[in-house]
Amino acid sequence: MNTSAKSPKSSINRRSFVKGGLTVAGAATMGAGLLTQSSPLLAQGGGLTAGDAALLRFAAAAEILETDFWVQYNELAGIPDQEVPGGTGSPAYTRKLKNLDDDFDEYIHDNTDDEITHFTFLNAYLQSKGAEPVNLDQFRSLEGSTATGVNEELIGKRLTNLTQLTLDTSWWTRYRSDSHNPDLDPDFKFPQAVSDLAAGPHTAIPRTDDDLHPDHHIQAIANTAAFHMPTIEQGGNSLYPSMAQRATSVEVLRILISIGPTETMHFQTWADKAGAAVSRPLAPLTDHTNGLTFPDLNSPPFGGDDFETSLIMPEPCPFLSRSLPPCSVIRPTETTGAAMGVLKFLTDMGLFIGQSPAFFDVMHSLAAAADAATRGV
Ligand SMILES: [Fe+2]
Ligand SMILES: [Fe+2]
Repeated sequence: MNTSAKSPKSSINRRSFVKGGLTVAGAATMGAGLLTQSSPLLAQGGGLTAGDAALLRFAAAAEILETDFWVQYNELAGIPDQEVPGGTGSPAYTRKLKNLDDDFDEYIHDNTDDEITHFTFLNAYLQSKGAEPVNLDQFRSLEGSTATGVNEELIGKRLTNLTQLTLDTSWWTRYRSDSHNPDLDPDFKFPQAVSDLAAGPHTAIPRTDDDLHPDHHIQAIANTAAFHMPTIEQGGNSLYPSMAQRATSVEVLRILISIGPTETMHFQTWADKAGAAVSRPLAPLTDHTNGLTFPDLNSPPFGGDDFETSLIMPEPCPFLSRSLPPCSVIRPTETTGAAMGVLKFLTDMGLFIGQSPAFFDVMHSLAAAADAATRGV
């Protein structure tokens, strides 16, 4: 969508809400290390059940991590403004992303803004109920990009690593399959859209200005980002309905089922952009510096219902039981082990390469607590 004629998008109210929320989060002096089972607040969840607090706390942690990498994208190729401050942009990288969609910068900005509000709201809600918010600031230690355009104040202070990604792109065929659902066929292997990305590791952002050329190299980096974005967002799109099934309070349920679909909106938007990277005129494309190839998914041996890039809506698939008719649904939504599954998914992706053992310990306990949450307890 071309938004050049749009009026300035930021509303005062939304901006001040985010600003206030960030202040709340920033003022939370409790380190993540304090989030231990010995904390009475964690055990009681404040005014929430312990399970509900744990579900929201894991969601808040995931949103802080999402925010961290979306901010990196916004610095280099989004729209820095009061809603999403920092960075001055990398023109070469931005141009390559705009080859996929002219409004790519706007979409990056708005996705980043959404993630900031997600964690800010979740933490503020936890605090409003007397429960502990999540603060991962002590783990802001990763180098990140030093290319021109990044927020120099944040070099060496990233939580997530966008430079060594191994991307499971099988969501592409999972959402096109009419006969398999991971919840019913946990061992079925959905084919990859871009098998080189699944083999990894590849960077989704220019690491230094040396990555800005040759042309096919920086286009491949942009294409990697275009696949990283839906790969992440489809994870959120499954996480929220998976966790919602174990919420006790109707209000916590409302929070989870109201944030979750925004992740779905992100996912579908980015799935469409990824499609541009694997169709003509951009595809096929090979980065000759490392061999990374983006095939044209509309041509043999690809194409058809499993690969065609115009098919961006979910194909109905088996749901709950094969004795019931197929249904167009988010998948997977199995609730058992959902949080730990997301943590493993993000870790396997390489998003935390360079993080300390203490970081993994904290994330592991947050996920374990969320997965232990039981509806009605
Ligand atoms: Fe989010
Ligand atoms: Fe998201």
